Amino acid sequence: MPVKSQKRNFIIAGNWKMNPDSLADAKTIFAAISRKARSARHTVVVLAPPAPFLSAGASRSGRAGTAACLAIQDVSEHVSGAFTGSVSARQARSAGAEYAIIGHSERRKAGDTDMIVSQKVRQALDAGLRTIVCVGETERDPHAHYLRTVREQILAVVGALDKKQVRSLTHSLIVAYEPVWAVGKSYDTAPKPSDIHEMSIYIKKVIAESLGKKIGIKIPVLYGGSVDLENSKAILKDGGIDGLLVGRQSLDSKDFGGMIDYADSL
Ligand code: 13P
Repeated sequence: MPVKSQKRNFIIAGNWKMNPDSLADAKTIFAAISRKARSARHTVVVLAPPAPFLSAGASRSGRAGTAACLAIQDVSEHVSGAFTGSVSARQARSAGAEYAIIGHSERRKAGDTDMIVSQKVRQALDAGLRTIVCVGETERDPHAHYLRTVREQILAVVGALDKKQVRSLTHSLIVAYEPVWAVGKSYDTAPKPSDIHEMSIYIKKVIAESLGKKIGIKIPVLYGGSVDLENSKAILKDGGIDGLLVGRQSLDSKDFGGMIDYADSL
């Protein structure tokens, strides 16, 4: 990120999922959050509305201190063609998205395998979208097999990239750690900052082992899963992460705005 300072540069991303119901409501939230995003000095704000609302969002650039950037919540694994109901990465890019969320647990539950996720990531990268790949275990077992799940999800993605994609990866790939057991739950379900920190180190290590230390260190890792304004502070401060991927609370412009302010103050 371009701002030079001692401050930490966070990415605060909001995944609206299948909300809100109307374009009018979407515009109201866009306006409120974009105001916040413009006043942020070090924090990049990303909003992932439902695809039909993309072009109503005012995305200007991927820098801190500008309007919120837009993300598509999913893309097709195909370039184009007879795939009714699907949205291609190129279409999303042309409608104003600069980011894509791929491999969200709700998409994986609907049938996206590691293989499909890796194909979607390639489509997104080829279309010039910064790609937020979601990984996370469904449960934390006492034998730490969950680490293997996360490792396999990451390796499926990075192992399928071609040389050109790998070369631009430090700019274009972001990993979101979203433990499935903490998504959409009560806000005290989110893991402790120390557990998130541990996982963030692990994710960077897995990437480093596959693609080299230089890349592993630079790939931003976000945390998502039952984040609210209250728990976001300790997670941002002590979670060893580069930002948040927020679900429900990203539709509440006051609380989401509070997270942007706090991230920007660190
Ligand atoms: P919640 O913040 O509603 O738990 O959702 C998290 C999420 O899935 C973000 O992608």
